[in-house]
Amino acid sequence: MISIDVNTASGGYPVYIGENLISSTVLWQRHLQRRPAFIVSNEVVAPHYLQHLLQALDGEPCGQLILPDGEQHKTTGIWRLIIDRLVQANATRDTVIIALGGGVIGDLAGFAASTYMRGIDVIQVPTTLLAQVDASVGGKTAVNHQAGKNLIGAFHQPTAVIADINTLNTLNEREYGAGLAEVVKYGAIRDAAFFDWLDNNAKLLGSRIPDAVLQAVKASVEHKAAVVAADEKEKGQRALLNFGHSFAHALETITRYQSLLHGEAVSIGMVAAARLSRQLGLCDQHAEKRLIRLLSGLGLPVAIPAEIDRQDIVSAMRLDKKNLDQVRRLILLRGIGDAFIAENIREADITTALKAPEAA
Ligand SMILES: NC(=O)c1ccc[n+]([C@@H]2O[C@H](COP(=O)([O-])OP(=O)(O)OC[C@H]3O[C@@H](n4cnc5c(N)ncnc54)[C@H](O)[C@@H]3O)[C@@H](O)[C@H]2O)c1
Ligand SMILES: [Zn+2]
Repeated sequence: MISIDVNTASGGYPVYIGENLISSTVLWQRHLQRRPAFIVSNEVVAPHYLQHLLQALDGEPCGQLILPDGEQHKTTGIWRLIIDRLVQANATRDTVIIALGGGVIGDLAGFAASTYMRGIDVIQVPTTLLAQVDASVGGKTAVNHQAGKNLIGAFHQPTAVIADINTLNTLNEREYGAGLAEVVKYGAIRDAAFFDWLDNNAKLLGSRIPDAVLQAVKASVEHKAAVVAADEKEKGQRALLNFGHSFAHALETITRYQSLLHGEAVSIGMVAAARLSRQLGLCDQHAEKRLIRLLSGLGLPVAIPAEIDRQDIVSAMRLDKKNLDQVRRLILLRGIGDAFIAENIREADITTALKAPEAA
């Protein structure tokens, strides 16, 4: 088992990464310390892992709530349901919420924990690769509003993250691949050596060989932890984690979140950002080519689907809430492992990059 400390102004906590951690009674005792636990999971994850968790806990939880599966349930209605169940279970300030699931459960249970009695503890038990390398670490919690994703939320750090890599074995190919896109992102923005390692271990990672998965999750969490420690509330450098994401959000909006998983959209978005960087003379085409080769080797899409109008992407990007004060901010590359926040990018340049052919 590996343990990584996340240190933020609002508190520090460990992220444990390893095999069969859900069943580790020692870990649960250490972090619950006989306090009552309230489990939040969903109907897909619970049949696989809830029993393991219940067996590892000392005694019964004070409550458990198994939610329907899917992003469409990341709503204030379900948040309210969690609060209602906490009330029914007589949860107190001492109660610890255990979030067992992917990023949707983590965000929902985390937001409920941040609001119930002005904030109670939450332990994140991420069961998707995306949640292990990204969503469970850093303290962002949210639910969606009709007007947009994650519009209602809070920063609320967990008291521990227990990332059991064995849970990834039941994930389907696409969900697993989508998580790999965020793993590649860390190499692309701040760690050329890790990017090389990913290049060399792509096959092992693709086949979910435990040692390779462990190394990839470890390096990713270290990067996320370092960025979050330096910039908990996303005032500056944390924005680097949005590499590829302005393009990705536009693609997700245009396709109404139906055809591309978030990580797949990020994969295409990172390639678009690398292409724009190359076109602006910021980096050579080697970076773009390497990104394309690694991502496609991992089974991820790298090209914008043919049926999507390039101009629609630019329009959607214009409306992205993350573009502060109309300044077109984008995360661009100077090379693999070297991303920076670029400002005042001209729309015409983005359009040209989106229409340009891939680096041959
Ligand atoms: N808080 C943050 O910092 C942050 C960061 C990134 C993403 N997010 C949020 O995370 C969500 C996406 O997370 P996600 O990709 O984990 O999606 P998800 O939680 O919807 O999980 C994807 C699918 O896999 C299933 N699943 C989960 N674990 C499984 C397992 N071990 N075996 C089999 N199936 C399993 C889920 O039930 C779901 O159907 C989005 O809502 C996004 O906004 C939050
Ligand atoms: Zn992302």
